[in-house]
Order: sequence, then C-alpha cells, then structure tokens
Amino acid sequence: MPKLTELPAWKAIESHFTEVEGLHMRDLFAQDSQRFEKFSSQMDDILLDFSKNRMTDESFRLLCNLARETDVEGWREQMFEGKAINISEYRPVLHTALRNRSNKPVFVDGEDVMPKINKVLQQMRYFSERVRGGHWRGYSGHLIKDVINIGIGGSDLGPHVVCDAMKPFAQRGMNVHFVSNVDPTHLSEILKFVEPESTLFIVSSKSFTTQETMMNAHSARQWFVSTTGSEKAVAKHFVAVSSNTQAANEFGILSENIFEFWDWVGGRYSLWSAIGLPIVLYLGMDHFEDFLEGAYAMDEHFRNAPIEKNIPMILALLGIWYNNFFDAQSHAVMAYNQYLRRLPAYLQQLDMESNGKTITRQGERVDYLTGPIIWGETGSNCQHAFFQLLHQGTKPVPADFLIPARSKNPLGSQHKVLLSNFLAQTRALMMGKTEAEARQELESAGVAEDRLEEMLPHKIFEGNKPTNSIMFEKLDPRTLGALLAMYEHKVFVQGVIWNINSFDQWGVELGKQLAGEIMQVLAGDQPPEDYDCSTSGLLDYYSTLKT
Ligand code: F6P
Repeated sequence: MPKLTELPAWKAIESHFTEVEGLHMRDLFAQDSQRFEKFSSQMDDILLDFSKNRMTDESFRLLCNLARETDVEGWREQMFEGKAINISEYRPVLHTALRNRSNKPVFVDGEDVMPKINKVLQQMRYFSERVRGGHWRGYSGHLIKDVINIGIGGSDLGPHVVCDAMKPFAQRGMNVHFVSNVDPTHLSEILKFVEPESTLFIVSSKSFTTQETMMNAHSARQWFVSTTGSEKAVAKHFVAVSSNTQAANEFGILSENIFEFWDWVGGRYSLWSAIGLPIVLYLGMDHFEDFLEGAYAMDEHFRNAPIEKNIPMILALLGIWYNNFFDAQSHAVMAYNQYLRRLPAYLQQLDMESNGKTITRQGERVDYLTGPIIWGETGSNCQHAFFQLLHQGTKPVPADFLIPARSKNPLGSQHKVLLSNFLAQTRALMMGKTEAEARQELESAGVAEDRLEEMLPHKIFEGNKPTNSIMFEKLDPRTLGALLAMYEHKVFVQGVIWNINSFDQWGVELGKQLAGEIMQVLAGDQPPEDYDCSTSGLLDYYSTLKT
C-alpha cells in the first residue's frame, strides 16, 4: 500500500497548493459570481456553504480525487456492512446500525443485529413511558423528577449535548443531570439539589470498569442508602447502560433494568444506543426516534451523494486541505445557537479521540499531520473572546459556523441580530479590510494625518480566513441527529484518508495505569525509586499541604 504522501493524488495537491496558496478569496469571489451555487450542497434543509474557502475549482477537483484514490467510498461501504475495520480491536464499527431506520439486515458474525437493536429500543420506550407517565415511581411512591446520568466520555458527552440542545422539547418537571468527573465536587453539587425518593440514577458505562464512573456510582449508591436507610430501594432508583451486563449485575442492578449495547459500538459513537437513555427520559422516545431519523437521513446522504456534493466528505477534504497543506493545527466550531453550547466538547472527543493518532493501519509512523485540535464557543460570545486572533492573528484557524434560521425563543429582533453577526463574521474573515479601505475610513473619521499613519497598520485586516457556513431551518431532534452524524462521517473520512484507525483509543491507557500506581503512593506506599523528581517533588509538597 503506497504511503499517503506518495500517492499521485496527494502529490498533485502538493504542487497545486504552491500555485494557489497566495490567492485571496476576495478575488476568487470577484471572478466568479456562481461561487456560492458551485460550492454549496444541501441535505434536507441543512445547507453547507463552503464557498468561503481558499480553493479554486481545480483545488476542489484534486481534493475529491484524493477521496477517490484513497477509496473512501469503499471504506464507507465496509463500515456500513459491518466489516471489522477497527483493526486493533478486531471489531466492526456499527453505530450506523443503531439508527438504521430501513431495518434492512446488518450482519455481525453472521447474525442480523437489527432484532436486538430494536429490542433495546422497545425496552427504552417502555421504561421511559413508565417513568414519564408516573407508573414507575420511587420506593416511597414519589414521581421521578430528577434523572442523574453517571458516565464519562462517550457515556456522557453525547447524551449531554443532546439534552442541552433539545431543552425546548423536554417534558416539564423532568430534570436531567450529568455527573462525569471523579472530582467529588461534581456529584456533590448535584446531590445537594435532589431528593433520593424522586431521583433515578443511570450508570452508563460500556465497560462498566471506568474508574470515574464506578466511583461516582458507588458514592451515589452510598448516598442513596444512607439518606433513605434502604438497600432494597436501590433497585427502584438505579439502572445501568452497558455492554458488560455481568458487571452491572454485580453492582446490584437487576437484569431487567440493564439496557445493553454492544462492543461494535464505539463509546464516542454510542449516543444512538441505550447510552441515549437520558435523552429518552428527558425528551420522550418519539423525539429520540426523530433524532435517529435525522442521523439516518444523513447516513443515506453520505452513502449516496457523489463526492462533490457529499457534505461529510466535503468537510473532511477541506479539513485535510488546511491541516496538511496550510499547516492549520486546529479547527474551530462556532454554533450561533445557545442550545449548542456543548457541541465543541462533544466534537472534541469524537474527533480528537478518533484521529489523534500517529500510527497507520500498517503499523508505521505517519509522516504527515493527522487529527486537528477541535475547539469552539457559541456565537455571538466567541466574538468577544477570541475573534481578535481569528481576524488579525498569525495562526490559520479554519472554522465551521452553524445557525438555525428560526429561533425557539423569539425575542424582539435578537435572532436577526444574531444572524447578522453570523453572516458578518464569515464575510469579514473572508474579505478583510485593505489598507486603502482602512485609510479611507480613518480619513472620513477626520483622524489627523500623523495619527492616521500611526493607527493605519492596526486597522488593516488581511482576510482570506476560511469558513464553512452551515444553515438549517430550526434546531430540532431530526436536524440535530443529522448534524451529529455529519460530523461522525467527516471524522471517518479523514481517518480513511490519513490511513489510521479512528475507532480505538489506546492513548488513554497510560494515564490510567500511572494513576493507579500513584493512588497506591497516596494510600501510603513508598514511591518507586525511579519516580521523576517532578512527580516526587509534587507528592512531597502535597503531603505538606494536605493535613
Ligand atoms: O476516554 C476513554 C474511554 O474509553 C472513551 O472512549 C469512553 O467513551 C470513555 O472512556 C468511557 O468508557 P465507558 O463507557 O466504558 O465507561
């Protein structure tokens, strides 16, 4: 298998880059009034405008050619068909089966997995309707009004971003909380505001061994038993979501209260599975199924749209264009919608835990950059935090801007103001402000000549900063499902092109291992002789402070 950087398609982009890197988007737009029509694509009401990118028709053609030469479409079909593409764990990658609304068979080891997926969906519907309908009550007969999800990483971030984003669709009187950090503050600060008799805990953990989740679950159980005085009542207030049903049983959760998912669902891709139980309890199963429908619609688009109009592929190729040719080290996501404030946190795990890799599928070290640093903030707040750097800094930061055309909270003209900022910022980043324009403005403002010359350099904006604009009608479960699936497939395509395994995460193991050793030292063992002097010094200093 030739190295990525030796592929003809890669080399063609490399030489093309030297021809176009100096072009300014101002000129590209001035030369082509059809740029928006040409460089935009739509799936349902989700429009991707990728015209504000530093590329020509030829650039785009060469990028699409790279997708063909790396057989992205072939790998895509392998994923959907359940091939074991997670090569280091010898597993299929089938989060798409969880939202396979066609219900066509999907085989894992010869077994059609759709019946068991549907069985769990029915279990989730039945359970949620009993809880939300008041038929499932606490041990003393109270309605459940607080749901606390205990999980971390993919067992937290997915349901958390969705519950936050779908607040307008939630049932009044049903509160959902998320505990993830092993820092005792996280659980403590939530337990202060709930009553045990009306609280349901969901212990969400694919492995059911993650240290943070297990500690929080045991602490929550202890709190529950000590405040109610009832061990027996635990059964009415703790359920589990896991692929390790034996460990969940051993924790003391009844089998009928365990919601199963499978090892061919990656943690950061699991919100479509029973990990979505908090979503179902908060929004109801109908909305969760709309969410699955939206993701399925994006799956169909991803499977059928030609590369040139394929939204996840376009986002992936543009990401590679900046990451590997413009040397952009990060990618920002600005959701101009307050309900999406947790989107960057979710995308960080999805993208960085998938593609933060240096070893290829063939076990060699890459000689090119792979996964970008993902970050972001809601708009318009981002404009008052770091947009100075985006506009006049030295670092290229390609960015996605997302906005619904309609707000769930009409308040005067505020949504229009938000929209004007959304449009203005991507235009300003693209156009910049030339010296002549800046000078003209200063002169019109009557700035004295000597002062003007002093100010002028600071008032110039280079522009030519690339952005993708993603606009959709409204933020509802279906659209959110489609958007999250869009990003999943973007990450997948980039991993294929970078020739890495996006579906394992061995990089999280070393820290866990060392934490276990240090925990022994904190419990009183002698620190190993070979500890570095920093760790030893910090341990010594801690011991002077802790008492
Ligand atoms: O961060 C490492 C990781 O394994 C993630 O991939 C996963 O989502 C998270 O920890 C939680 O794992 P589990 O669901 O098994 O508790």
